[in-house]
Amino acid sequence: FRFGYSASASEAVAPALKVHATGKSVLIIGGGIAGLTTAHELEKVGYKTTIVEARTRLGGRNWTWRDGEKVEHRDGQQTVRFAEGDYFNAGPARIPGFHTNLLNYCQNFGVALEPFLYENQNAFFVSPSCQGGQRMRHRHVRYSIQKAIEDVALQGLDHGILTEGLAAEDAAKVRKFLEQRTMSGSEGPFNRSYRGGMVGHLDASLKMPDGLKPIPLAELANSDELGVALSTYDWIEWQTSLMQPVGGMDSIVKAFDRHVKAERRMGTELVGISQNEGVVSCRVRERRNGKEETLTADFCVVTAGLPILAKADLQLSDDHRKAVTEGAKRYEHTSKIAWSAKRRFWELDDGVYGGASSLDGLPMQNWYPSSGYGKKTGVMLGAYTAGPRAAAWNKLSLAEQLETSAGFGRTMHKSFDQDVVAGYNIDWMDQTYSKGGWAWLLRNGEAEDGSPYAVLREPDGRIAFAGDYLSQLSGWQEGAILSAHRAVNAIAAAT
Ligand code: ALA
Repeated sequence: FRFGYSASASEAVAPALKVHATGKSVLIIGGGIAGLTTAHELEKVGYKTTIVEARTRLGGRNWTWRDGEKVEHRDGQQTVRFAEGDYFNAGPARIPGFHTNLLNYCQNFGVALEPFLYENQNAFFVSPSCQGGQRMRHRHVRYSIQKAIEDVALQGLDHGILTEGLAAEDAAKVRKFLEQRTMSGSEGPFNRSYRGGMVGHLDASLKMPDGLKPIPLAELANSDELGVALSTYDWIEWQTSLMQPVGGMDSIVKAFDRHVKAERRMGTELVGISQNEGVVSCRVRERRNGKEETLTADFCVVTAGLPILAKADLQLSDDHRKAVTEGAKRYEHTSKIAWSAKRRFWELDDGVYGGASSLDGLPMQNWYPSSGYGKKTGVMLGAYTAGPRAAAWNKLSLAEQLETSAGFGRTMHKSFDQDVVAGYNIDWMDQTYSKGGWAWLLRNGEAEDGSPYAVLREPDGRIAFAGDYLSQLSGWQEGAILSAHRAVNAIAAAT
């Protein structure tokens, strides 16, 4: 979708509910973004809501770590140690500018946003099989490829390529346009734009530095992964502008928390759900004392992830129960490593302010904080894996994960060892109340009849489902919101 789609912004479907539901009650299972959205929208039209949340915090995968945070890992619990003011978004970390619904809530709730830099031309690519494993600045790689393609295009013009069938006048316009775009008339290997970088620096001396020579395509092609790494910047969801809330992604959760009136049953697990003609019953257990009780309501919206739901006693239709079991199997591993640093070496030594560096092989990427430039300390992402690669990563011990990530960190930044304090790994599959990062239930972008996606979109009697997995934006908060809006409309229609 890098060229966009016809309505490239998610359609703003904030439900304009026409019910006056005074007195009707809704149990919401899960206090992540889908659950909070559900509560907020239903409350606006008079429903009485209760959120049942197994964790002792709201937000679900929207989770910002600060000093003292406890993080589960197969090898044991980690306690995060960050300097004052440092934070790390362990779940969602970036918001595309076309995620209209999430941005609407941010605006309505007064959540301050700032740019999240993903593509940074001054960050690095490293491939052991390319340029002797030396660091290559992003701009050098990007424009080496672009120049090779432009050269072919410009030469092709002499043979009618790209201008076939055009009148001479239009063909001339195409040539002029391409020449302007590529600055092909000006001097130097990358022309005077220095778009691929330069040897040395601009200073006050008599002679301008030389531009870097393009890296031959055949050399870049020695890397198996560079092409893929570069293409991630082209995907529509990762194109500029991306944003992040100032101070941490959980600013969104805190804002919902301020606006949602629902009764909160925190630290409370779902044991089972059943319903009859008039009422939904949820059996729940308080974690701190094991006490069980049955909560009842007119309706229920289940926003917990399918792996969690699959473990409960679900008195649902056969189709819905089967869909939960099937959908639960599709959840993927995804993991991130955070390195706390006592010195922002990526900025001070390498001039890298935000963005990402990529490495062939595990663990794929370093991300640099998009805020706090010039501060003393900071947190750098040392790995972000997803899917099968994350499943393989999950088989390593915590010590191996950190050592592997540190190895890449050293390749990228020579003072890595001196300046990092400690690293922490999260795999969302290890998290008791998530058991996975996200699930993609659509096959080839479509939901066939009877698939978990098609079944769970429809409520089962008084029970509706929501969660990012029930949208075309799985793994995104916007998807959670869109699915919640759908569920809310279903509840209103049934009221
Ligand atoms: N939404 C997730 C990301 O941006 C997959 O990394």
